[in-house]
Amino acid sequence: MTHAAYVFDAYGTLFDVHAAVRRHAGEIGPDGPALSELWRAKQLEYSWVRSLMGRYLDFWTLTEQALDYAMKRMPSVDAALREPLLEAYWRLDCYPEVPGVLKALKARGARLAILSNGSPSMLASAVNNAALGDLLDDVFSVDDLRTFKTAPTVYELVTTAYRVYPDAVSFQSSNRWDVAGATAYGFRSVWINRTSMPDEYPDLGPDVILPSLDGL
Ligand code: LAC
Repeated sequence: MTHAAYVFDAYGTLFDVHAAVRRHAGEIGPDGPALSELWRAKQLEYSWVRSLMGRYLDFWTLTEQALDYAMKRMPSVDAALREPLLEAYWRLDCYPEVPGVLKALKARGARLAILSNGSPSMLASAVNNAALGDLLDDVFSVDDLRTFKTAPTVYELVTTAYRVYPDAVSFQSSNRWDVAGATAYGFRSVWINRTSMPDEYPDLGPDVILPSLDGL
């Protein structure tokens, strides 16, 4: 089935958020995977808590604050790695299937976009680094709204811009909470369950589950 637009979450879906820590794995040592998980978990927690309070700070600032917290929790990690880790976040690897999948969808005539919590400059850098710019029609950031997913107004950015009903949009995310938000809004939702996680949010299930973006 072809949809008018295929819209992708950025971090975890197109770009590998654990690539920054992996790039410095040798210098970080055995706490690397735990550091990366905590960094990501805190970054997301800050986005949800700040949205509820109405106290927006952009996603880059939250990414820095989350790393600072995670590094304090892992004192074995050399503090000098803070800057290299943050720098690596600006050029995260995209997952290997991403360029091919986007090219195939574009050839079918669909509009392609990112809808992300990321700040516009972070997203521009990641897109540029992965050479995806020519394949994407739009990169929608929450920054104009000053709130984060899963606020319905975030998903509405797409339907307002494209003047379509939500069910004309196929939304792909590896983040199950983001899939719940997209389903609640009325998008056709596709959960990219890259790491075989158990399902959650049972009343807000995805329409489709795939192990990677292949198969869209
Ligand atoms: C995104 C993050 C939260 O919106 O995955 O891109």
